[in-house]
Amino acid sequence: MQPASSAIDRSQYPKHIAIIMDGNGRWAKKRHLPRVMGHPAGVKAVKRVVEFCAQEEIQVLTLFAFSSENWRRPKEEVAKLMDLFMSTMQKEVNRLDKNNIRLRFIGDRTEFSDKLQQKMVDSERQTENNTGLTLVIAANYGSHRDMTLAVQNIARKVQEGTLVPDDIDETLIASGLSISDLPEPDLFIRTGGEQRISNFLLWQLAYTELYFTSKLWPDFNAATMQEAIDDFLTRERRFGRTSEQVQKLSKGT
Ligand code: IPE
Ligand code: IPE
Ligand code: MG
Repeated sequence: MQPASSAIDRSQYPKHIAIIMDGNGRWAKKRHLPRVMGHPAGVKAVKRVVEFCAQEEIQVLTLFAFSSENWRRPKEEVAKLMDLFMSTMQKEVNRLDKNNIRLRFIGDRTEFSDKLQQKMVDSERQTENNTGLTLVIAANYGSHRDMTLAVQNIARKVQEGTLVPDDIDETLIASGLSISDLPEPDLFIRTGGEQRISNFLLWQLAYTELYFTSKLWPDFNAATMQEAIDDFLTRERRFGRTSEQVQKLSKGT
């Protein structure tokens, strides 16, 4: 990996980028290939984007790899995705580890095979002390479920008598969700042309800058990532304030 060039000011870069990697099937169809052939091509794009983020010293990259709704796809496609998931981890985890990347998974892993679950635990353990990029893979993830589990846990505490309803605030709800220990996404990217969130990080995206591109995921690379970041850098994040207030704050007056 090349060291990051010091000429570029990265202080305003997003700390956390979350991506819905969409368009694998259409990429394959455009090439008159079976749609499942788009997924291995998508893995290549994942490698390029992970390398880009590590090099640019992005803190967190969250990738939506498989949604809780994707089980509705044809059985053969789901099976191919599971195989690809396993083989990619077998091939790539050591390399991620060598590059100081910490790997984490969010979503309900109990529906995956025992072998896959074991590999997920092992690779999280292997990389847990790494201090570079945190790579979060959302696998069998759905935001509604994530929020439902958080609510169940809160309700349990109320039932046990260790919590009263008046103490339930936004911080407590947020703390029960996946990746609550990580900064919220600054930049959300969805490839493939659809402009929807598809049950991804609904709570965490409240003030995230959204970037949609018609580029299909297997065509994504460092240059298209840079375009998304450059677009992000033009946005004014107001968090409810006026533009004038934001400008004063940024000048420190
Ligand atoms: C995204 O690409 C990959 C997964 C959902 C696993 P798609 O497979 O959804 O590609 P399109 O949207 O059908 O082109
Ligand atoms: C979203 O893509 C999920 C992933 C990229 C893993 P989909 O292709 O499944 O989303 P919809 O069905 O078009 O909303
Ligand atoms: Mg899709």
